[in-house]
Amino acid sequence: MPTQTDAVGRGQAHGKVILMGEHAVVYGEPAISIPFRPVNANVAVQAADEEDVLNCGYYHGPLRKSPHSLKGLTELISVVRQNESMPPFLSVDIASNIPPAYGLGSSAAVAAALVRALYDFYHRPLPRKHLLELMNIQETHAHGTPSGVDARTAISRCPLWYVRGCRPLEISLPRPLFLVVAASNSPGRTLDVIRRVHENSRHFVDYDTPITRLGEMTRQAVEAIDEGNYQELGRLMTQSHQELINLGVSTLHLNSLVKKALGVGALGAKLTGSGGGGSIVAIAADNEVQERIVHVLAEAEAIRIWATTVPANQRLGDIHMRIGKGTLNRRCRKVH
Ligand code: MEV
Repeated sequence: MPTQTDAVGRGQAHGKVILMGEHAVVYGEPAISIPFRPVNANVAVQAADEEDVLNCGYYHGPLRKSPHSLKGLTELISVVRQNESMPPFLSVDIASNIPPAYGLGSSAAVAAALVRALYDFYHRPLPRKHLLELMNIQETHAHGTPSGVDARTAISRCPLWYVRGCRPLEISLPRPLFLVVAASNSPGRTLDVIRRVHENSRHFVDYDTPITRLGEMTRQAVEAIDEGNYQELGRLMTQSHQELINLGVSTLHLNSLVKKALGVGALGAKLTGSGGGGSIVAIAADNEVQERIVHVLAEAEAIRIWATTVPANQRLGDIHMRIGKGTLNRRCRKVH
């Protein structure tokens, strides 16, 4: 029978894909995000002998000597354990197949998996609200002013409609959604890109800006999803890619991947996440088009490609929800 100090605490969380509304969500506009299960982070925590140790993809050694890029995680560990008396030292192993800085929610997933593993190790209950507060420590290091969409999606089982500061609504898809996600030839620089958008948006003087237009497209996109009109959803995704170009967050390779996907029949395609490098997401009408997109993106030198189907979910009942200007009837339910 393991004692508390030989026990291993374990935690897991998955990646995310933002279908609509990245960047605009930081400024109070809505986003639609999807849990991205093909990639995930797993963390194991156990007692260590002489000092705190961290093992992850690119660092193995004492926690106190870990690089600055891991500061969010080290701070998170110290906050969680400050009221714990035993054991004095921890060994933390992080295994993640989510490419960091590719817009797929690596930092949020690692933070969620780490907090879950620490709480499992200490046998403490972990309310969702507390988990989100702790994840926010790491997310603030990664994004500066996180909207919270990555954190919410990393711990959600359903696609989400998210507005900063509000409880997200789970979106139930009326039909399966065929996705292709592809990593471009360069990582994104999340913090730099977010700062640049912030700097540029100070110069927007009227009500019709890339940010407000992205918000409006996201509102239209959730209606298209509700109606099962994925053709319209795709059109809005492609249109929003153009606005993200206007915001200055795309790259030539991201644009070329979007164009290639559209060229073989994608219903829509756009960059996903903060951009400045990173990944694209495309949607397809069926498996056949999905395969064609995978093929053409491989030829266009995407460095990793995932094809996945987000299942339809008939479980949830219709509710009325208020978004923006109108009250829409759709398949959503509140998340607590
Ligand atoms: C990053 O995945 C999404 C952004 O909108 C930043 C955020 O929401 O915190 C760019």
